[in-house]
Amino acid sequence: MQIKFSAEPTGDAVAYLAYEGDKGIDFGSGLEAAGEASFRRAASAGTFKGGAGQIIEILAPEWSDAVRVLLVGVGKKSAVNENGWQKAAAGLVKRLLVSGAKSLAIVGAPDRSVAANLAFGARLAAYRFDQYRLTLKPEKKPTLGTVSVVTDSAAGARSDYAPLAARAEGVELARDLVSEPPNVLHPESYADRISELADLGLEIEVLDVAAMTKLGMGSLLGVGQGSVRGSRLCVMKWMGAKDKKAPPLALVGKGVTFDTGGISLKPGPGMQDMKGDMGGSAAVVGTMVALAKRKAKANVVGLVGLVENMPDGNAQRPGDIVRAAAGKTIEIQNTDAEGRLVLADVLWYAQKKFNPKAMVDLATLTGAIIISLGNEHAGVFSNNDDLVAKLTAAGKAEGEPVWRLPLGPGYDKQIDSDVADMKNIGAAGNAGSITAAQFLQRFVDDGRAWAHLDIAGTAWRPGHDNPLEPTWATGWGVRILDRLVADNYED
Ligand code: BES
Ligand code: MN
Ligand code: ZN
Repeated sequence: MQIKFSAEPTGDAVAYLAYEGDKGIDFGSGLEAAGEASFRRAASAGTFKGGAGQIIEILAPEWSDAVRVLLVGVGKKSAVNENGWQKAAAGLVKRLLVSGAKSLAIVGAPDRSVAANLAFGARLAAYRFDQYRLTLKPEKKPTLGTVSVVTDSAAGARSDYAPLAARAEGVELARDLVSEPPNVLHPESYADRISELADLGLEIEVLDVAAMTKLGMGSLLGVGQGSVRGSRLCVMKWMGAKDKKAPPLALVGKGVTFDTGGISLKPGPGMQDMKGDMGGSAAVVGTMVALAKRKAKANVVGLVGLVENMPDGNAQRPGDIVRAAAGKTIEIQNTDAEGRLVLADVLWYAQKKFNPKAMVDLATLTGAIIISLGNEHAGVFSNNDDLVAKLTAAGKAEGEPVWRLPLGPGYDKQIDSDVADMKNIGAAGNAGSITAAQFLQRFVDDGRAWAHLDIAGTAWRPGHDNPLEPTWATGWGVRILDRLVADNYED
């Protein structure tokens, strides 16, 4: 999708913003009297009030050069936030993407920052993962190639849009990675893809099985030992702060490229979704790309543990005891509780190597978080109220909200083991997302600011109606993390 900012509304579709006023529709600027009259008539035939997400489309009116003119509601003028502008543009793009229209102009942005957010929303809505749909019928192929946002301050809007374009690129990459099939994206090919990001100025380090064996990462390696693909740990560094030696923020991601459950095999129906079990890592990779593209003035390191959890003659068994790099032993009681085993060693490495001032991990960790929060909020678990406050604010602003759940010694004792330092599951049907977080916390240094985001319900979503998102992989995490950095960790 090509995004433009211009002073003139040219396009075969032209859309006008409208608001929900106290006395009916509040028309934004840019619409001439004949147009307003025509939309009023159309609105009175339906339910259009200017509410968020509402759209009227009129074909070939005499009063416009455009073949299609649209009116899009953004809700009450006083209540609309950045996300609201984004969604208005996104709704238009979703409506027109395969309509035959090739270009869309959006009229009515009150200022340059709104113009930039309209562009950002349009771009995210245009995302598709079509590279394997080789015989897609012409009428199902996108036609819309250009969106121009009409504004008097095109230069200003362009500069406001630049960091959002970087953010969008990160989101798009995260969606691509989550959508890639697991025969294509496995730990080895994923690490190769990450290595290519060196071109953006990211410093990349890849640890292979031999390197991780040397470091004693028995917890991560145990998960991958049933796969023919070698496990990998990838580090991406962006040291953009004035003081390149200042302790970074560490972002850690679960990258299970496919989770069969291992010997504790998952049921067949729905298992294909487990190609997305690397969604936490995708969010981290996407965020690092966004930071590099917009040259963020912050020190941030991304670390992702890439493994494939397969049943095999060499796979790990329930009953096995493994030793994590941190020197603690773990009794494996369920090979399907593998994400925490991967993260244990990555969290250890992040702290040992970088002494981060704060650490945030993201993981599609538990089905239980979907029972608790559905597909609306990600769960956040933390030892630090300030970090939770920052994440909550960033998530709210970006439309990626998080909701805090508790940690505590009563939950922690569920993962004590009779034969090792801990076991990898708590009691069945009992606060499963919290005991998973307690497990992670056993690998976080005392006093280290840390937050864990359980994104099992948000990394992909079944049919839903957010126009900014495609039908499945959301790219969840890039937006909240990039804003977390922008608002709190930059010079
Ligand atoms: N990857 C899954 C969690 C998951 C479930 C993500 C559904 C997305 C959608 C994770 O590895 C897992 O299997 N967790 C188990 C833990 C249990 C064995 C303690 C679960 O949630 O059932
Ligand atoms: Mn699992
Ligand atoms: Zn998993």
